Amino acid sequence: MSDEKVTTDIITLTRHVLDEQRKHKEASGELTLLLNAVQLGCKFVATNVRKARLLNLQVSFKIGLAGASNVQGEEQKKLDVISNEIFINALRSSGRVAVMVSEEDEQAIIVEEGLRGRYCVVFDPLDGSSNIDAGVNVGTIFGIYRIRPDSTGSIEDALRPGKEMVVAGYCMYGSSANMVLSLGNGVNGYTLDNAIGEFILTHPNIKIPSRGKIYSVNEGNSMYWDEVCTEYFNSMKFPPPGKSPYSARYIGSMVADVHRTLLYGGIFAYPADKKSKNGKLRLLYECFPMAYLVEQAGGKAVNGTGRILDIVPDNIHARAPIFLGSKDDVEDWEKINKKYS
Ligand code: AHG
Ligand code: MN
Ligand code: MN
Ligand code: MN
Repeated sequence: MSDEKVTTDIITLTRHVLDEQRKHKEASGELTLLLNAVQLGCKFVATNVRKARLLNLQVSFKIGLAGASNVQGEEQKKLDVISNEIFINALRSSGRVAVMVSEEDEQAIIVEEGLRGRYCVVFDPLDGSSNIDAGVNVGTIFGIYRIRPDSTGSIEDALRPGKEMVVAGYCMYGSSANMVLSLGNGVNGYTLDNAIGEFILTHPNIKIPSRGKIYSVNEGNSMYWDEVCTEYFNSMKFPPPGKSPYSARYIGSMVADVHRTLLYGGIFAYPADKKSKNGKLRLLYECFPMAYLVEQAGGKAVNGTGRILDIVPDNIHARAPIFLGSKDDVEDWEKINKKYS
């Protein structure tokens, strides 16, 4: 028998959430139960993403496309639709949700009386789906609000600034399923152990470096950029003498680009430009959760007017420009932005 130490005391996501809550406030079983539903959704989607790669569900465009488009005007992949239904069913049956907003549904979903709980969940069931045929990492992004005290669940529970979220997270489906989560007291990373079907704490207390060496933006849009972006990204590509240029990394799946930015530092941006005046990324279920995580990890997330988490969305599919990542890198952008405003 090798003398390799056998782990007999693993910290699962559920145990860690309860421990965290006991440390900071009365552990509310409600939120833990809701997070169990989110975990179920992520595990279920993870197996479908893996299966799809085996079953060619998405490789040939004909099979991969669901033959419909969503409110975003995007061609829906079958996996977009399957992932969406998985989350709606998991969240509804948890009995803890009153309102849901999904990228794939035009209207907010109000849960029927008998199953209605006290939370509002906003989610992007499958982020990066246009890349999935290339086997690139995709993911689910989610944010959770407590519904307002006098509310029984309405769209107004979702049209609130991201700073009012109580949970933000994503699950990235790659070689393994990686969940990154914050309950407002820092950020922790968990990896799915398929053998026992549990997310295990593998990246406790994630902190983003104060400055990185990577910039992440779709340079294919640079002819549409304003002078702030042009000057900012040029300052990283053509630095003053004695400084080395940043590396460019752009995967095109927000979950993958933000995950790398969280761990390695640097900046991820989807700016507004002449082509998309509010940028492309959706405020509620892409920008808010990612901004929340980056701030909780010690970074910053802004757009032309200020802090992403202070914005009040005017509709559930509102888009916003976003610059997020290492504090010093984002502040470099803010300095140039100030010069031109
Ligand atoms: P989704 O797949 O949920 O529609 O999101 C796609 C988003 C995001 O994942 C990524 O950062 C961005 O689209 C990439 O857009 P471009 O291809 O325009 O760079
Ligand atoms: Mn989409
Ligand atoms: Mn997305
Ligand atoms: Mn999506």
